[in-house]
Amino acid sequence: MYKDSRRSFLRQTSQVALASLLPTSLWAFSGKSSKASVHVNLNQSIGTIEPEIYGQFIEYLGRSITDGIVNAKTNQVRNDVLAKVKRLAPPVLRFPGGTVTKIYHWQDGIGPKANRPVRPNLIWGGEENNQFGTNEFIQYCRQLKTDPFLVVNMNTGTPEEASNWVEYCNGKGKTSFAELRRKHGFANAHGVKYWGLGNEENAGPDTGRLQNPAAYAEMAWQFAKLMKLQDPTLSLIIAGHDEKWNEIVLKELHPIADYISMHLYASSKKGQPATLFTQLAGFEKQIEQTHQQIKRLAPEKVEKFDRWYRFPPRAKGVKLAIDEWGIWESEGKGTYNLEVTYQWFHALGVASFLNIFQRQAEIVTMATWAQTVNVLAPILSNDHESICQTVFYPLELYRQYCKGVSLTAEVKSEALRQSGGEDLPMLDSSASFDEKTGLATLALVNRHPETAIETTIVWEGNTKLNLFERHELTATGFTAYNTLDDPKKDVVHYQKTAVTNNPPTITVPPASITLLRYKVG
Ligand code: AHR
Repeated sequence: MYKDSRRSFLRQTSQVALASLLPTSLWAFSGKSSKASVHVNLNQSIGTIEPEIYGQFIEYLGRSITDGIVNAKTNQVRNDVLAKVKRLAPPVLRFPGGTVTKIYHWQDGIGPKANRPVRPNLIWGGEENNQFGTNEFIQYCRQLKTDPFLVVNMNTGTPEEASNWVEYCNGKGKTSFAELRRKHGFANAHGVKYWGLGNEENAGPDTGRLQNPAAYAEMAWQFAKLMKLQDPTLSLIIAGHDEKWNEIVLKELHPIADYISMHLYASSKKGQPATLFTQLAGFEKQIEQTHQQIKRLAPEKVEKFDRWYRFPPRAKGVKLAIDEWGIWESEGKGTYNLEVTYQWFHALGVASFLNIFQRQAEIVTMATWAQTVNVLAPILSNDHESICQTVFYPLELYRQYCKGVSLTAEVKSEALRQSGGEDLPMLDSSASFDEKTGLATLALVNRHPETAIETTIVWEGNTKLNLFERHELTATGFTAYNTLDDPKKDVVHYQKTAVTNNPPTITVPPASITLLRYKVG
């Protein structure tokens, strides 16, 4: 409903009111101020914003783990980086890949560190010393108070190997892998809940040997059975891909799939930042289509699940785990140019992404940003310090305040128009209400580089609301960025202001992210 009304307004304004104003250049509206409205309905909940949509991902890839999470010389966790990851407060952390799972054997990363093998990283190049293995990862998660999410190797690994990993992590009895964990110093089971059945198993050039949905589905059943027999409480994430792939894997695997995964990497055309936002609009459609497909193929409740499986089927409906998302520009440093420098408009893209996840809260219940340090990351490090990239700030801000249930927020705003591209609203929005605290939050993202937007906010749902706080992120320029070459300089400006009245309109500056906080009732 939200999207339809937004689109029709855009169609209307772009064809009638704005028609004569729109040049064919990148931006349609070149004025310095514009008007918009947002109607939020406190009685229209889209769904719960699950905390797991604010997760992170780390992989054995370039300087993501070695030289990012841990010091490359000492193999000890880097406290400067850890402090920044703590600020991101991910409720879930995915590991060890990514594509690298196709060659990863978990037993290389346990036991005395001196005995662990150094292996070639056949996927991403270089060597991995396996000093940051299962237990180091779990300890890292504990420091972050985050839930671990492990992805199993379905290619050079076997169902038995994956099942043994479950036993090693979650086994409570006297069995050999549970005892091995104890011998390694971990008396209590790790209780790992989230397990990914492979990663991008469709990907042709990768070393994957499944690569077609029927083969994947058959193999994934074997993995699921042996893993669930070890621990029937696991939450399994099956590998999704396009519509055709998902059709088959959902039909076959839905009884044991708590989630189907989707990977969303956005990019922009060089010199055309707005193309990033267009792509995000396409992603939202893709999520909606997949939502419909899940509804069609996976009933909420699994009926007639054969008792001889000896474990129960999933307990809830299948949800979407966007277990890799982020912004992947082609120019960057390091391994496969993956050390991307993010400009300020990328941060506006991240806030727009998070608005999408809130608007799609009914189906998107997990999302882990790819990745965390150095590789496509909000945090960059060199051998002696680390910095936050522009994209770090919206991740941090949303995670603190956008909680509870997601509410419908209908935006009417002028259009951003790109040559050859689809019109998009300048203003992007999402809203939430946290019943626990009685506080509501409205997120407003102004994606125009020069135009402020005077926004009329209408709360529907016969409740009294008092705006009491405003959080605002802006930067020194649309393409400004932070760099390790000048680590003290931060181009991002954060402002928190107390508000004591209820102004009829709120003006959001150009290229800004604003969170408005309300007391309800
Ligand atoms: O995040 C980098 C890579 O992108 C991951 O390894 C893979 O899953 C995806 O293609």
